[in-house]
Amino acid sequence: MAPRKIIIDTDPGQDDAVALLLALASPEDVEVLGITAVAGNVPLALTQKNARIICELAGKLEVPVFAGAAAPLERTLVTAEHVHGKTGLDGPVLADPKMPLQRQHGVEFIVETLRAEPPGSVTLCPIGPLTNIALAFQKAPEIVGRVAEIVLMGGAYFEVGNITPAAEFNIYVDPEAADIVFKSGAPITVMPLDVTHKALTTAPHVAGFRAMGTEVGRMVAEWTDFFERFDKEKYGSEGAPLHDPCVIAYLIRPEIFSGRRINVEIETTSELTLGMTVADWWGVTDRPANAMFMGDLDADAYFALLTERLARL
Ligand code: RIB
Ligand code: CA
Repeated sequence: MAPRKIIIDTDPGQDDAVALLLALASPEDVEVLGITAVAGNVPLALTQKNARIICELAGKLEVPVFAGAAAPLERTLVTAEHVHGKTGLDGPVLADPKMPLQRQHGVEFIVETLRAEPPGSVTLCPIGPLTNIALAFQKAPEIVGRVAEIVLMGGAYFEVGNITPAAEFNIYVDPEAADIVFKSGAPITVMPLDVTHKALTTAPHVAGFRAMGTEVGRMVAEWTDFFERFDKEKYGSEGAPLHDPCVIAYLIRPEIFSGRRINVEIETTSELTLGMTVADWWGVTDRPANAMFMGDLDADAYFALLTERLARL
C-alpha cells in the first residue's frame, strides 16, 4: 500500500521532536509533504527553528518547513517553557539549523496542498494548538471535505487537564481554533491524555533509546531525560507521557490503539473550564458523534515501534 500523505502541524517540544523523527524514519508508511510550525510550547520563532533542527537531525533536509501562526485566533499565547525549557528542545545542546525556512506561510501551504492533492489523500497531523488548521478552514472552507483524516494530539476526559484542572495544553492555548476544527465535519481521530498518559518513558525505554548508539538515540534519550522531570514530579509517575508520537504511531500501527466514536465539544466561554474537551464517552447525550476518541494503547508495542524506527536514522 502507498504511504499516507501527511502534513504535520507542530510546536516542538521534545515530544513533537520524537513524533517528527518517527514520521521521517517511516517512509514506507507516511510521506511527509511538509511540516508547519505553530506557536505553542514556545513562540513561533523557536518552533519553526526547532522543526528544522529535527529535520536536519533526521537527515531529511528535503522536507519543507513552514512558519504558521504566531498567536492563537483570539487569545494571548500561553507557552510551556516550564515543561520544555527556554528553547523548547532543552536537554542536549543543539546547533542552529542550516536548512532554510520556506517563504510561504504555513496556513497557505495547508490550503494549497489540500487543493492540489486528490480529495481524501492528505491526512493532517496537528500535535500542537490547532490555530493553523482552523485558519486554513476559515480561509478555504472547501478544503475541509478534501481532508482524509485529522489525527491530533489533544484533549482529555478521564485524565482531565494538564495545564489547568480542566484542560489539556494544545486545546487550552487556542480553544476557539479547536472548536472550529471539532465542528468542521472533517473525520477526526483524537489522541487525548487518556492515551498518552499510558505511554510513559520508563527507564528501560530511555535506556533503549540510548543503547541505539546513534546521534538520534542520544538526542531522544537526553530530550526524554529533560522532558520527564516535570511530569515525574507532578504525577509521581515512573516516566513522562510521550504524547505526540502517538499520532504518528496510529498512522503506522492503528491496531495498538483503541477508543470510541463519540461526541466531543470544546468549552470556549467559561474561564473555569476553558479549553475542556467535553467528551460524551458514556453516550449520555444525543449529540452526534464527531470524533474517534482514543482511550487505550499497547504501550509495549508503541515503544517497540518507536525504538525500531528511530534506530533507522
Ligand atoms: O498536552 C501535551 C501537548 O502539549 C503535547 O503536544 C506537547 O508537545 C504540548 O504541545
Ligand atoms: Ca506538541
